[in-house]
Amino acid sequence: MPKITYAEQNGTIYVIDLPEGISVMRGAVDHGVPGIDGDCGGECACGTCHVYVDSSWLDKLDAVGDAEASMLSFADAARPNSRLACQIRVSSELDGLVVGLPDGQH
Ligand code: FES
Repeated sequence: MPKITYAEQNGTIYVIDLPEGISVMRGAVDHGVPGIDGDCGGECACGTCHVYVDSSWLDKLDAVGDAEASMLSFADAARPNSRLACQIRVSSELDGLVVGLPDGQH
């Protein structure tokens, strides 16, 4: 299974094996990774799954859709590498993906 790494701002790292097809948000919520709330269940409607994608992985992800871009425009501390974790689908191509967790999801 692909390994996804979640990195908290304080340096705490979570490396989790996730099945292909689920979202990076669902993987975090199901494994108790703090800092990803996923309040809307992955409908791209809450913005509480904001993550920072390690720059070396950005071009391996699908392009940001209109709904995702809209939600990210409301995210505190958005950066050029901000994405919504519910819009990132785990696949073998993303084995080793590293995402950073923001200080908060508001
Ligand atoms: S879980 Fe709500 S936007 Fe991602």
